[in-house]
Amino acid sequence: MTPKIVFVQGSPRQAGNTRAVAAAAMAAAREQGAEVVEIDATRLEFKAPGCIGCQKCQQSETFVCTLGDQVAEVVATLPRYDVIVLATPIYWWSYTAQIKIFVDRMYSLSKFTKSGRIRTLLGGKTLALMATGGGPLQDNLELLERQWKTPADMLGCAFAACLFPFTPPQAGALQQDPGAIQKAREFGCLLAAAK
Ligand SMILES: Cc1cc2nc3c(=O)[nH]c(=O)nc-3n(C[C@H](O)[C@H](O)[C@H](O)COP(=O)(O)O)c2cc1C
Repeated sequence: MTPKIVFVQGSPRQAGNTRAVAAAAMAAAREQGAEVVEIDATRLEFKAPGCIGCQKCQQSETFVCTLGDQVAEVVATLPRYDVIVLATPIYWWSYTAQIKIFVDRMYSLSKFTKSGRIRTLLGGKTLALMATGGGPLQDNLELLERQWKTPADMLGCAFAACLFPFTPPQAGALQQDPGAIQKAREFGCLLAAAK
């Protein structure tokens, strides 16, 4: 069975390099028969920029952020998908602020109990990352990779990443780079084969 994949777009540049490689991966995954959906995290409306730590999601039996804004609504749809891909440029050795707002709200999809046991709607899924950056892998994009792999491991998720170091700053540069597009397409095929 081919998976349902959601790409969470985190680049504020609509014609930027991150969206270009994400588009190539999405096209390849669709060609493999996967159902692919996009969420643009840069355009979601929110009442609070991130989690406010109210813990209401931890106290209720539902897995929903009680802030009741568009970010909460969209985060609540994530359990529908088998693969959740963050597509983001690296900003200041991390994902973009727009992705951080989104990811913090994903707290509501798990119950972190006092005993240390985690009850989560994300278990068994694949968390994935597509990231571009102007700098190297080491001490840079690999830090971002660890930032997403660590929660994946804790939540019992598989993990996959596709990183593009030394991306030229001009928007559209990777679109003209056949090697980068091929790498992105192969990643899309890999995601489409995820269980
Ligand atoms: C605010 C800001 C912070 C950045 N920080 C980093 C960084 O920590 N490491 C890095 O390699 N590149 C950094 N960059 C470069 C971007 O990650 C890189 O140009 C990326 O490919 C842009 O993606 P886009 O074309 O989708 O906007 C930064 C760029 C901006 C605007």
